Amino acid sequence: MPALPRREFLQSSATLAAAGAFGVMSEQAVAQSKAASDKLTAVVMGVNGRGGALCSSFLGQSNVEIAYIADVDSNALDRASKSVADRQGKSPQGVVDFRKALDDKSVDFLVCAAPNHWHAPATILGCSAGKHVYVEKPCSHNPQEGEWAVEAARKNKRVVQMGSQRRSYAAIREGIAKLHAGELGKVLYARTWYANRRLEIGHGKPADIPTWLNWELWQGPAPEKPYLDNIVHYKWHWKWHWGNGELGNNGIHALDVARWGLGVDYATRVSAGGGKYRWDDDQETLDTHLVAFDFGDKQGDGKTILWEGLSWSDYGPGGSTFGVSFHGEKGSMVMGDNGYTLYDEKNKEVSKDPGKGDGMAAHVANFLACIRGGQDERPNADIEDGHKSTLLCHLGNIAVRTSSVLTCDPKTGHILNNEKAAALWKREYRPGWEPKV
Ligand SMILES: NC(=O)c1ccc[n+]([C@@H]2O[C@H](COP(=O)([O-])OP(=O)(O)OC[C@H]3O[C@@H](n4cnc5c(N)ncnc54)[C@H](O)[C@@H]3O)[C@@H](O)[C@H]2O)c1
Repeated sequence: MPALPRREFLQSSATLAAAGAFGVMSEQAVAQSKAASDKLTAVVMGVNGRGGALCSSFLGQSNVEIAYIADVDSNALDRASKSVADRQGKSPQGVVDFRKALDDKSVDFLVCAAPNHWHAPATILGCSAGKHVYVEKPCSHNPQEGEWAVEAARKNKRVVQMGSQRRSYAAIREGIAKLHAGELGKVLYARTWYANRRLEIGHGKPADIPTWLNWELWQGPAPEKPYLDNIVHYKWHWKWHWGNGELGNNGIHALDVARWGLGVDYATRVSAGGGKYRWDDDQETLDTHLVAFDFGDKQGDGKTILWEGLSWSDYGPGGSTFGVSFHGEKGSMVMGDNGYTLYDEKNKEVSKDPGKGDGMAAHVANFLACIRGGQDERPNADIEDGHKSTLLCHLGNIAVRTSSVLTCDPKTGHILNNEKAAALWKREYRPGWEPKV
């Protein structure tokens, strides 16, 4: 084995401890690992809303530098660059095309908070360029892309974490540990919901592309469309070409916790109902959406997750806007945005932890620790779990869009015996933009 450079030889105790916990580190892993004292350098892509918040979360950690901010909106780019410069005392480079930052060997990781149609293509480009990736949820725009993203992470041996941050919230982790320890006996059912009184998006009018926007690169891998004035920003969520509706927006958070709690991977049957009822506008995705995901269907084998999304009323079960409830033989557990409350079989409260502290800090810290670990350590919200949870969202949308009850392969989640539904497993790409793992 070649002599290790001094910096790598003087590994932090954390890395050595990790080596002990996970077995002997491979030569490659040792070479890839970074001591906790080593600076990690980032490019943050897409900073209008979420990306700006993520800049803040990452700069809250020690030894992180945001070297590049990438955005196709020059206003968002300037705003975020200024606030990052103020915070870290050093100006990041502002770039319109994030691929420029991927060419920089000193960049360790990519943070992607661009719209959904960018998530998997950017993850794949990032991994191929040797970067670790923090990708916002949902990790893909369609099921095929999710599989590619997992493949890209594994092939390039990169840490890829999805922004399903509840996986790192201390109180949520404690609640899930109680479920897994059997405090509710067998847990057979989880209900998930999100309710929001959202406004209409109107009818888009063809308009000149604003001077502050690079519409070409905003669209990137998605087949080109003429510019309309009601897509950028955020409203793209409600158009299938770029978004995944509320299920892929906030449903993913709740479904991810439910899937984790029940310990299930791929649904075997997906049935859905609902529609777009509230507004006469350009939204294509559903504003009222119910989906039942069955994981097996026999006693001793079956478990079900229900999703309820309401995009025009903010009154969900119990008056809350977001939640997950688990139902077991010996009681139930309700999780809100953070924390849990556990009830016995008579619905008497047994224990609770409302959660406190900055869960986001824990989530990004976990991602950075995995990078510094430099081995096959998987983050709390590893891309494979991200894909499995995101796939539920895609299937819940596909079921309604094709008026189908979907039957799926329990080993892969693939849709069986339904050509129309299977056609939505993947998308078309703009020529030259097809992702390549
Ligand atoms: N984990 C969470 O809790 C959470 C919360 C909010 C949003 N999100 C996710 O974050 C993503 C962004 O959400 P948002 O509300 O900020 O959306 P947004 O539409 O407000 O902002 C997206 C930004 O990405 C930029 N962008 C588009 N194409 C780009 C490209 N090629 N390169 C660089 N920048 C590009 C846009 O110009 C814009 O500034 C969404 O996918 C959303 O699901 C996650």
